[in-house]
Amino acid sequence: MDYLRIEGGNRLNGSIDISGAKNSALPVIASTILSDRDVHIKNIPNVVDIRTLLKLITMLGGEVEQSETEVKINNRNIDSTKAVYEIVSKMRASILVLGPLLARFGECEVSLPGGCAIGQRPIDLHLKALEAMGAKIDIKGGYVRATTKDGLKGAKIIFDKITVGGTENIIMAGALAKGTTTIINSAKEPEVVQLCNILIDAGIEIDGVGTSTITIKGTAGEPIEFKDIEIIPDRIEAGTYLCAGAITNSTLTIKKVNASHIQSSIDKLEAMGCRFNILDNEITIYPTSRLKPINIITTEYPGFPTDMQAQFMAVATMAIGESLIEERLFENRFMHVGELNRLGADIWLKGNIASIKPVAELYGADVMATDLRASSALVLAGLVAKGVTNVHRIYHLDRGYDNLEGKLSSLGANIKRVSR
Ligand code: UD1
Repeated sequence: MDYLRIEGGNRLNGSIDISGAKNSALPVIASTILSDRDVHIKNIPNVVDIRTLLKLITMLGGEVEQSETEVKINNRNIDSTKAVYEIVSKMRASILVLGPLLARFGECEVSLPGGCAIGQRPIDLHLKALEAMGAKIDIKGGYVRATTKDGLKGAKIIFDKITVGGTENIIMAGALAKGTTTIINSAKEPEVVQLCNILIDAGIEIDGVGTSTITIKGTAGEPIEFKDIEIIPDRIEAGTYLCAGAITNSTLTIKKVNASHIQSSIDKLEAMGCRFNILDNEITIYPTSRLKPINIITTEYPGFPTDMQAQFMAVATMAIGESLIEERLFENRFMHVGELNRLGADIWLKGNIASIKPVAELYGADVMATDLRASSALVLAGLVAKGVTNVHRIYHLDRGYDNLEGKLSSLGANIKRVSR
């Protein structure tokens, strides 16, 4: 299994381009099921999760042509509506095909995703909403089987909890439903906004984009025709590189980024003492002589993202006082704590709150990645740890970071992938 070998201590310098957002590309690719024409998508990140979803589209009978950062998908000849365990167990976001498959074909079967390392992550809200739209849902043999007699019908959906994937599934289902679907307490993440925007470009009437109430007027089953799509920049990748600048006390520039999408991360780094030069699509971070401690609570967009929690914890290990991080979205998203402590960090957990006490230095060690964002936190810590840090199980990292070691190397980090 590959691992990353990092020799810590180098200052970083230079600039890198941010890739397209994995979490936007996934629902965008799933939404192509709503069309029976060619769909062109640009700025696709080169990460395993995207390849997994494209494989699923192919297994359903869709045609996929991929070049480096572009993909052309045609779902005219879909002849299966079953998302099998082999794929869904690799990537929970495969559940995003549920809404579009059901809306276009009136039936589908999707393997239950089950729990994952960061928590239980149920899909009850997706299913309840589809039922409200007229779907019959049966769960048997580890699969969700959803059917509709005369197609999905618009409905008023009130989500008990804000769910990104649930909102996306219902937006896609609503696009081909009969009548108007209203989603109350919807997610407002930039990835949800992009999904709405590409559907609007395809002729669907959607109101309330980017707010907590979205209404969608459906086509009553008529497939749609998408305009060319360009995936938005990955705000979590961008935030991770800003953390790399902060933890190594470096000046570096990230390009092809949307600054407004990462305001909460910039605010926290500013509170820690980092300075910035911010242009529309380019951000330079300047170092501070002493990182100040920080208090963070993860919450839904535009609040501080849970997907940046682990990276900020790594940065907080280098602050001059105690930081507190409270995780409110996922019940088990602190597995990086033990691994950061292996590197010499002093982090204590009480329930869903982590207290990060200052340490003079981190020391290289063998550590294990436990989930996607936890992996990048270990890499960040490795950049400043004395000696060599080997980050194992980096298949987690490959799911969502496009060429992480290549980008960090180009900034001057001493990092390489070792295959054994
Ligand atoms: C998405 C992101 C993930 C991010 C998360 C929260 C993608 C592909 N993934 O995941 O990177 O960490 O948003 O910002 O975009 N919940 C339920 N029932 C449901 C659905 C969700 O209880 O039916 C709960 C979850 O367990 C969690 C919370 O709601 O506690 C938010 O989850 P959700 O927003 O749905 O996360 P994902 O869409 O899976």
